[in-house]
Parts: sequence; structure tokens; C-alpha cells
Amino acid sequence: MRTIVAMPGDGIGKVVLPEAIRVLEAAGFKANYVHGDIGWDFWIKEGNALPKRTLDLLEEHKIGLFGAITSKPKDDAVRELAAELKDKGYVYFSPIVGMRQHFNLDICTRPCKSFEGNPLNFIRKNGKGGFEEPLVDAVIFRQNTEGMYGGIEWTNPPKIVRDALETHPKMKGFAHVKSEDMAISTRIVSRQATERIIRAAFEYAKTFGYKNVTVCEKPNVLRETSGMFLKIGRQVGKEYPDISLWDTNIDAQMMWLTKNPEDYGVLVSENMFGDIVSDGFAGLIGGLGFACSANIGDTVAVFEPTHGSAPKYENLNPSIVNPIAMILSACMMLDHIGEIEKSNRIRKAIGEVVLEGKVKTYDMMKIRGGAQAISRGANTTQQLTDAIISKL
Ligand code: NAI
Ligand code: MG
Repeated sequence: MRTIVAMPGDGIGKVVLPEAIRVLEAAGFKANYVHGDIGWDFWIKEGNALPKRTLDLLEEHKIGLFGAITSKPKDDAVRELAAELKDKGYVYFSPIVGMRQHFNLDICTRPCKSFEGNPLNFIRKNGKGGFEEPLVDAVIFRQNTEGMYGGIEWTNPPKIVRDALETHPKMKGFAHVKSEDMAISTRIVSRQATERIIRAAFEYAKTFGYKNVTVCEKPNVLRETSGMFLKIGRQVGKEYPDISLWDTNIDAQMMWLTKNPEDYGVLVSENMFGDIVSDGFAGLIGGLGFACSANIGDTVAVFEPTHGSAPKYENLNPSIVNPIAMILSACMMLDHIGEIEKSNRIRKAIGEVVLEGKVKTYDMMKIRGGAQAISRGANTTQQLTDAIISKL
């Protein structure tokens, strides 16, 4: 039997992950779940939000299901650290980013596919007094380890960094800025990683019959990094003559996806742009309650909803948050390990519940979240899961 490392993390991660496991079990997927510690509590207690024992579990079992973590700003991180750990050189880093880098989970896939009848689906006026509801089926491939989120950044850069930057003519524009008044984040992309993510995007398009792959970057301004990305896109694209290569600029793409989202199939971007464009598409298919993702490396893969820990809803009892993003992430896990019949069955069950429209969490009713959502007719997290299970 397969062992899955279950890492609920913080906040609503602890709510939605057990719901996904209930659905997996109801679908007949048999596995051992071992718990992996991750998140803010472990930062506070141990000075490490991603303890080595959790990395070891992932190393051993290869597959992780992850809920969400809480990350707080630098000053809060320092303040909340346990007294005995203070001033000992502990530095907070995001454990999900750390996990992606440690295992080189460089291929992030975020499918954004509308469920028919979802009240949160994108609609647009049809010019005849009515509206149309094009179904969105976009899959975003986000390079997951490099680029703007590579973590190579400074406030008050060391002199050697400053000196190196001064060799660039454009630094003249910053000559008057003191280093202590300067913050720098880098955007480094490598040929190898870029080629891997672009190839993964084309392979996916080929396997699942998508007609186009869009490289979404900004090569007219980010001439080096986006320039390299697009160039490699064109090279790799030649190997797939049946799939059209489109390229868009990230800013324009954010506009186009609110006008004609149905035109797009597979998209591929650097880390930050992929994060942005995938949230944009997620908004068209129901938002964070529906947005799932996979982080895939050569040996380890971790599946997680796109949303965070939504701390304001963490302690509500009953819980009001939507478990579908987490359940769909578990479906991506099933796809990854070849249990495609089960994942398709779960997705079909979700589709039936959404189309019937009888059981809805607060977000699907477009009402405010909070304890009062239930008295206003919203269903609980567990009721929505139960409805999905009843269709299986
Ligand atoms: P968030 O995704 O946690 O929540 C934003 C809002 O979206 C929530 O207030 C809620 O209204 C809604 N929402 C999120 N998940 C939902 C669900 N399943 N059902 C219904 N509504 C849902 O993002 P936020 O508020 O920016 O960050 C909260 C914490 O989460 C922060 O500490 C942040 O660092 C962390 N975070 C963690 C991520 C991860 O673990 N991968 C990703 C994004 C944020
Ligand atoms: Mg995000």
C-alpha cells in the first residue's frame, strides 16, 4: 500500500486536508497517511517551519498532500519566535517555497477548468441583453523554483553586491540611493529549468489534446530573462508542430483572460508571472475555493490547493470554507500515480454537486464569510464533502 505524507499545516489547511482524505477513501483509494509537521507553529517552537523530519518523510515516501501554511512579515516572525530561540540567528523562510527548492519541485501545474453551473463562473454580456458563459479550460505551468521567487534578495545589499551591480550602466539611475535605503530582488532564470517547464507544458498539451501553448512573459521589457524564456519556448515549440505557440505579455494576458478566457489552453510562465496568471484564471472558475495545484520534481511530488491558510476562518466551528480546491489537488495526486479512474470519478462527483447547486459553501453563494454564513444558508465544509461522497 502506498504511503502519503499528509501535511495539513496551518489555519484552514487543517480543515480541508482531512476532507480530501475522506473523499479519497470513499473513492476506494487505499493508502497509509503519515503526518508531516510544517508551518508557523514549528517556526515558533523550533525556529524552522519545515523540520528535517518532514523532509525525510517526503524523501522516503515521495508523495505529499499539503494544506496551507501561514507566513507573516519579517518583524512578526522575529517577535513570535520562542523566547529561548530569539537572537540565535534563526531566519524564517516559507516552508512551501523551501520544500519546492529542496526537492526541486520545479514543475507547478495549475488547472483552471470551470464546472458547469458553478455560480462563480465567468460570464459576459452577449450584446443582446443576455449573457454568455464560456467554459474555461486553461492549465498554467509555472516554473516553481527560480525567477522572482528564487529568494536571492537583499535589503541594504553588501558592498560586493552593490559593486557588481554598479558595473551595469543602468545603475547610474540609483547612484544617489544609499545601500541602506535600497532593497533588491533578483530574477534569475536558467536555460535548463526553463526548458523543463516549457517541455512539460507542451507534453501536457500533446497528451490532453490542447491546441495551443502560450508563453506568457514580458520580453519587450525583461529582455534578458523573458527574452530567454520565449526563445526557448520557440525552440521547444518546433518539436510540436501540431500545437500552436502563442506568446503574450503578462499585463496584456491579465486583460485578455477577462475578455476571451476560452481561447487559452496551456500557458507557461516564470515563477511570479505563473503565480499571477494562474490566480487570474482561478478567478474565472470560482476563485480560491476551486484552485488546485501540483508541484512536481524528478522524484518527489506535492499536491496543494492554491489558497493559503485563511486564518480568519481557522477556528470557526462548524467550518465554512470550500474543500473543493483541496479535493481537486488530491485528484491531481491520483492522476500523478496513475489512479486516473478514481480521480475522474471524484471530479465527476464534484461536477454533479456543483451543477445541482443544492449544497454550497459561502463562497459559492457570493455572501460574506464568517460564522453568520451558516445562518444565511451556506453549507459547512463537511456537508459539501458529504455531498461529493454521496455521488461517488
Ligand atoms: P488566503 O488564500 O489564505 O485567503 C484569502 C481569502 O480567500 C480568505 O480570506 C477567504 O476569503 C478566501 N479563501 C481562501 N481559501 C478559501 C476556501 N478554501 N474556501 C473559501 N474561501 C477561501 O490568502 P491570504 O489571506 O492572503 O493569506 C493568509 C495566510 O496564508 C498568510 O499567512 C499567507 O502567507 C498564507 N498563504 C499560504 C499559501 C500556501 O500555503 N501555499 C498561499 C497563499 C497564502
Ligand atoms: Mg498565489
